[in-house]
Amino acid sequence: MKTWFITGATRGLGQATALAALEAGDRVIATGRDRAVVSEALGPDGDRLLSARLDVTDQSSIDAAVRDSVERFGRIDVLVNNAGYGQLGAFEEISPEAVERQFATNVFGVFAVTRAILPLMRAQRAGHVITISSMVGAVGVDGGSIYAATKFAVSGWSESLSHELARFGIKVTAVYPGYFRTDFLDRSSMRLADLSLEDYARTTATATERRSSRNHRQAGDPAAFGRAMVELARSPESPVWLVAGRDALRTIGERNAAQTSAMDAWHTLSASTDFPEGA
Ligand SMILES: NC(=O)c1ccc[n+]([C@@H]2O[C@H](COP(=O)([O-])OP(=O)(O)OC[C@H]3O[C@@H](n4cnc5c(N)ncnc54)[C@H](OP(=O)(O)O)[C@@H]3O)[C@@H](O)[C@H]2O)c1
Repeated sequence: MKTWFITGATRGLGQATALAALEAGDRVIATGRDRAVVSEALGPDGDRLLSARLDVTDQSSIDAAVRDSVERFGRIDVLVNNAGYGQLGAFEEISPEAVERQFATNVFGVFAVTRAILPLMRAQRAGHVITISSMVGAVGVDGGSIYAATKFAVSGWSESLSHELARFGIKVTAVYPGYFRTDFLDRSSMRLADLSLEDYARTTATATERRSSRNHRQAGDPAAFGRAMVELARSPESPVWLVAGRDALRTIGERNAAQTSAMDAWHTLSASTDFPEGA
């Protein structure tokens, strides 16, 4: 039986992952900014469920949740860094303060929670750190530069961490979901640009239309995502990257092919920047 620690378990992919882990017979520490909302989402605490208040931007809430988890279950096998939101809009239309808030949650929040749990995993000489990045953590998109910057950040961090932690028996995976049917594209979750420049008015209107037509019609099924996380956590050979959803498979596949072909096309210039061989 594994013990999971999940951030942002009040709804969406975090809630679905917690439900799937409970369904599989595992133990779950389900955390959220409002503990009562976690309980509404997952039911009252029991033998295998502990709910805890945790805001990833509040260090004391992280420390308290980890302390309570250890007291209750003695170990944490799987950390799911899931909490996050999308700050969308053109780069120039997002204020520096909004950029900082986005990094505080999506990047520094992930670092803070992981930093609090790694000593336990190192002592166990076992564990699995799963971080929910995004398709946009591998492919840059129009109108998503700041959100993509945070997801590229955790993707690179996660990949590097996999090398650092393998020696302690700790596995590390970044997950790259495509569009999933959660609140992600709702005004309750995503944030739009807080500045407004006339030059971007048309592209912003098109993006808003595209998002509204896609919202709550996304192909990705959160329950299926949750089951995939359980399978990932149980597999002895965990990948460093896991793509979730056919849209993400296609988009990341095309991006990787475009990158390879750009490297081939510019090979001579790229290879020209070294000292001559033997120098
Ligand atoms: N759905 C998609 O299409 C999609 C695609 C790619 C990646 N993702 C990523 O998947 C993760 C989950 O997103 P979702 O689709 O499930 O979105 P969601 O339905 O909006 O859920 C987001 C969760 O994150 C929590 N959260 C936000 N800020 C937090 C903070 N400071 N501290 C603790 N919890 C916080 C929310 O808590 P509250 O209930 O308190 O607001 C909520 O539980 C995110 O990292 C997102 O970037 C989603």
